[in-house]
Amino acid sequence: MTERTTTTFVGDLDGLQSRVNILGRVQPEFHRQEVEKVFRRGWLLIANVADIPEPNTYLARQVPTLNTCLIIARGEDGEIRAFHNMCRHRANQLVPEGTGRAKKFVCGFHGWSYHNDGRLDVITDRSQFNDIDESSFGLIPVHTEVWEEFVFVNFDKEPRQTLEEWLGAMYDGYCGYFSNKPKIASHRITVECNWNIALTSFTEGYHAMYVHKATVPDYQGGSQNPDRHRPYIEVTNYHGRYSVEGNADHHPTEVEAIAFQRGRKMYPTFPPNATVDLGLPSGVNPLRIENWLQDIIEIFPHTFMIASAHWYTLVWFWPLDVDTTLIYGETFAYEAETVDDHMAHTYFRTRLREVFREDVGIIESIHRQLKSGVMDDMYLSQQELLLQKHYAVVDELVARP
Ligand code: FES
Ligand SMILES: [Fe+2]
Repeated sequence: MTERTTTTFVGDLDGLQSRVNILGRVQPEFHRQEVEKVFRRGWLLIANVADIPEPNTYLARQVPTLNTCLIIARGEDGEIRAFHNMCRHRANQLVPEGTGRAKKFVCGFHGWSYHNDGRLDVITDRSQFNDIDESSFGLIPVHTEVWEEFVFVNFDKEPRQTLEEWLGAMYDGYCGYFSNKPKIASHRITVECNWNIALTSFTEGYHAMYVHKATVPDYQGGSQNPDRHRPYIEVTNYHGRYSVEGNADHHPTEVEAIAFQRGRKMYPTFPPNATVDLGLPSGVNPLRIENWLQDIIEIFPHTFMIASAHWYTLVWFWPLDVDTTLIYGETFAYEAETVDDHMAHTYFRTRLREVFREDVGIIESIHRQLKSGVMDDMYLSQQELLLQKHYAVVDELVARP
């Protein structure tokens, strides 16, 4: 008989609770604390550098949780900086959301302009302004650091930690994994659901057998792992990740077989042992399990990634208020070079969208149920360890002065 898959748990599990209060988290006062102590103080993943690939490119992106919009700009010198998308004269928004190219940002209200490194360039009708110190009227900056392909921002006056300290054990181990993968899909939806509930419905695999039984019935499971236990689950300072084992008994459907006949496999990407074949860095499939399907990585507080052999998806959860969350996801994969590659991409996009719809479909009803106030707490399994960690970190940060 095949040996059953067991879980290797890594990290400090002390203090994690299987019984977690949930009712308090959907209350406006608790959420106000989350906004101030989690979102305004933590490092927030804001963008992929693929959106600002060259000097003089920029991305304007809403940060709805903190009621602002940022310009993330790559200057002439190649440096990435972030600023509030707000004119220093009378606060007009400088550029609409989206990507673009600009050496300067010019305000549409009275024509002030700014260099893309934030310095004030021109005050129109300058002689009519008395006593203005131009050097202190550049765009209002936000602390910015880059890790791998991702831009992070921190809204604190002075960040309490560096990004390296914030990412902790996650910082090393992904060298190059995210690079050379252009964006191939994006999704965006606003849901009537608390951000914690929305995010944590993606950071466990317990539900896969039930919620995704029609779309991806046998990507996981099989005789060696019928309960679909994760072979590797790790919690770090604030974050968590686990590896997902693919089902060695998986039978490709006809369409899947055609889609992946000649192109590189997208989903699923097993067998054979993809990790060894692809030389992935040590943070991806850390245990080097065979028939590896993908890793799930929660970058606290508001993003998670699915990392697979040839692609990754990054999903953001921005609370709009205690009951509403803006979710958007972006998927990056190897560049399609042939018709076969395009077919593999197309098949994959369709699968992923269906699975994503199933996940999103369930969370609004959970939120409605919780708002009834009937249920105080919930009980989480060992396979839901990332949820235990997520809630423990939220509570720890909210409890700080
Ligand atoms: S608000 Fe921008 S120039 Fe007046
Ligand atoms: Fe799911």
